[in-house]
Amino acid sequence: MPKINKYENIDNVEREAKKDLIDRHSPFIHCADTATAGEPFEVTVKMGNEYTHPDDFDHYIESVSLFNGDTLLAKASYVPGTLGNVKAHNTTTFTIIPTGKKLKLSAQGYCTKHGIWEGTEVEVAVS
Ligand SMILES: [Fe+2]
Repeated sequence: MPKINKYENIDNVEREAKKDLIDRHSPFIHCADTATAGEPFEVTVKMGNEYTHPDDFDHYIESVSLFNGDTLLAKASYVPGTLGNVKAHNTTTFTIIPTGKKLKLSAQGYCTKHGIWEGTEVEVAVS
């Protein structure tokens, strides 16, 4: 079982010292602040904000998972070469249909060399 590296647990000193490593492995959630219950809602998970990740045969982003609290909503799998074997931001757009009053979205990305990385939770109000 790989260790889960949580972005929120990484202190500022380490974030600065290993800025590129941490950034390129962290999933960043991009979506609207509000959603409508019962209507399709797009959530994009982009690996890395500033730095791109390799797409090599022995080192690539193998999967991206999206959670609402403790519940897995969706998971996308990749093979090496999906991104042309060049450094890129692995980007996945999931379409979900929200229920309830709010979403507590978090994402994990799995790098075949550096393990599982979890980004910062994003709250979405559902009306
Ligand atoms: Fe990696």
